[in-house]
Amino acid sequence: MAHLLFITLTIALQALVPLVHSYGHANMCRSYCGNLTIDYPFALQSGCGHPGFRELLFCINDVLMLHISSGSYRVLDIDYAYQALTLHDPHMSTCDSIVLGGRGNGFVVEQWRAPYLNPTGDNVFMLIGCTAESPLFQGFPEKHLPCRNVSGMGCEEFYRCPSWNMIGPKRAGSVYGTGPPECCAVPFEAIKSINLTKLDCQGYSSAYSLAPLRVAVAGAGRWSYGIRVKYSVQRNEPFCRACEATGGSCGYDTNGVNELCMCGSSNSTSNCDSVHSSSCRGTWTLVHTLAGFLICMIVWMKSQYS
Ligand SMILES: *[C@@H]1O[C@H](CO)[C@@H](O)[C@H](O)[C@H]1NC(C)=O
Ligand SMILES: *[C@@H]1O[C@H](CO)[C@@H](O)[C@H](O)[C@H]1NC(C)=O
Ligand SMILES: *[C@@H]1O[C@H](CO)[C@@H](O)[C@H](O)[C@H]1NC(C)=O
Ligand SMILES: *[C@@H]1O[C@H](CO)[C@@H](O)[C@H](O)[C@H]1NC(C)=O
Repeated sequence: MAHLLFITLTIALQALVPLVHSYGHANMCRSYCGNLTIDYPFALQSGCGHPGFRELLFCINDVLMLHISSGSYRVLDIDYAYQALTLHDPHMSTCDSIVLGGRGNGFVVEQWRAPYLNPTGDNVFMLIGCTAESPLFQGFPEKHLPCRNVSGMGCEEFYRCPSWNMIGPKRAGSVYGTGPPECCAVPFEAIKSINLTKLDCQGYSSAYSLAPLRVAVAGAGRWSYGIRVKYSVQRNEPFCRACEATGGSCGYDTNGVNELCMCGSSNSTSNCDSVHSSSCRGTWTLVHTLAGFLICMIVWMKSQYS
């Protein structure tokens, strides 16, 4: 009698194990680069993550790099709670050094990616050594100069940095009468693309503030230099939440447009519940419990009867 029960349970378990296994597998798209976690909407594998962020991140010797049309940046941080990335460009000027010669990347994203990736409103771009012919100053002085402080950060403070002493006497600062200012601070929104070639500028700096009031008092020596970028998955977040809640990994199809939920042995355009046999829908919690119970039973019975 006990023997018969054992055989029945073994058969039942063998039928259940693959289902439970594929149902509860760990997220196959999550990965790591150095000490950074790469998770939705980002991914290192193609097919994983959100299509707006495809072919964007690369892990090279434990250093996470972001690649867009203006160039490559090191990713210093991914803030999933605030949906922001912090980027570093080695050819960006800071309070310690001014890099001229148009070597900096600036910040330009592919048009199709623009809805997904934008520098934050409290990130200041300071354009350095732009010519009078720069589109920045066209219409000047009749029209309003686009240069302004952003979140308490601007060129007046930046000019006090030691790096400005190294590039000779400062023509900069106060007067607009003798030519364009040596530095012009703008928020990304104002010009939508930081292309040093197009803007006819020699260099740039970028700083962001996480606490605007403190930044204003601290001075440019204490600003955080880097590019703070807001990322957005538009309206598609519920898709991924539903996919992961049913044990899937969020990805996209081979044409790189439509989102896909990867459910182990198959893919779904909604979530993994719709993949598994519809007659079983809604019984998964029960199946889990039952399978756990059966495993315990069989281990116990094996120890008793074999
Ligand atoms: C990650 O490592 C870098 C140094 O490689 C360090 O500066 C940073 O604070 C670390 N970040 C976290 C979240 O541990
Ligand atoms: C920057 O502008 C120049 C000149 O208009 C253009 O040739 C170049 O492709 C632009 N760079 C990017 C990354 O869009
Ligand atoms: C920026 O702020 C400084 C004070 O930190 C002020 O002196 C300056 O006039 C402001 N510049 C602009 C363009 O508003
Ligand atoms: C599911 O989609 C991913 C990404 O497009 C693809 O690599 C994988 O082969 C697909 N799996 C199946 C079973 O179709």
